[in-house]
Amino acid sequence: MGSIVLFGPPGAGKGTQAQRITEHTSLPQVSTGDMLRAAVKAGTAIGLEAKSYMDRGALVPDDVILGLIEERIAENDAKNGVMFDGFPRTIPQAEALSELTEITHVLAIDVPDERIVERICGRLTCGTCGTVYHDVFNPVPGDGCECGQYVEKRRADDTEATVLTRLGAYHEQTSPLASWYEERGLFHRVDGDRAIDDITTDLLYVLQ
Ligand code: AP5
Repeated sequence: MGSIVLFGPPGAGKGTQAQRITEHTSLPQVSTGDMLRAAVKAGTAIGLEAKSYMDRGALVPDDVILGLIEERIAENDAKNGVMFDGFPRTIPQAEALSELTEITHVLAIDVPDERIVERICGRLTCGTCGTVYHDVFNPVPGDGCECGQYVEKRRADDTEATVLTRLGAYHEQTSPLASWYEERGLFHRVDGDRAIDDITTDLLYVLQ
């Protein structure tokens, strides 16, 4: 099997669905957003460079992202393919990726802009295992995260002002990738304005 791309605007549910789909495909989730946040937390040179872009909701330069990806997909667990979450986000990133691994499916989660702010501003992430929750739409279970170690965490870039900048970057720089992948016969669109379980069912159906 090759690799899969989960595509969609900020807050579409890419991370939520990636965590579910990896259980069925055994492809590891590779999230450039998570990798960048880890680099920021560790205070590496890449983290320091990326932080200024992330804090204002702008895309991090392609060369930084591609360096991270090349290193990640050289790891042993990626040899049968991976599930990309939040990558590629520009046409140069997609072109470079096509030289590194075979993409078999691009799964686009469609969500209207008016839903995005409420989704992102209500997001909670488990500080231990990374499971994503939502204040209203996907609450943390009464006895905490299923990993047993739930620590509530809100992302630094999950503010209304930053979300609007991230949406702008999506429409200007990332959405042109839809037709780029459509031309290559790889693009599958799923309605993401529904219950989380229904979206998972549709995504798994496409992968079958
Ligand atoms: P990144 O971390 O990738 O953020 P993003 O693309 O903005 O996406 P999110 O993680 O915010 O949303 P998601 O689609 O994963 O939704 P989630 O499942 O969490 O990137 C952050 C930054 O890093 C970027 O701004 C950029 O600076 C940089 N960056 C990263 N990759 C880059 C790249 N390739 N190139 C350049 N720069 C890059 O769900 C959101 C919320 O909604 C959750 O609370 C969830 O519980 C809830 N939810 C999910 N599904 C549903 C549903 N069906 N109904 C109701 N609620 C739902």
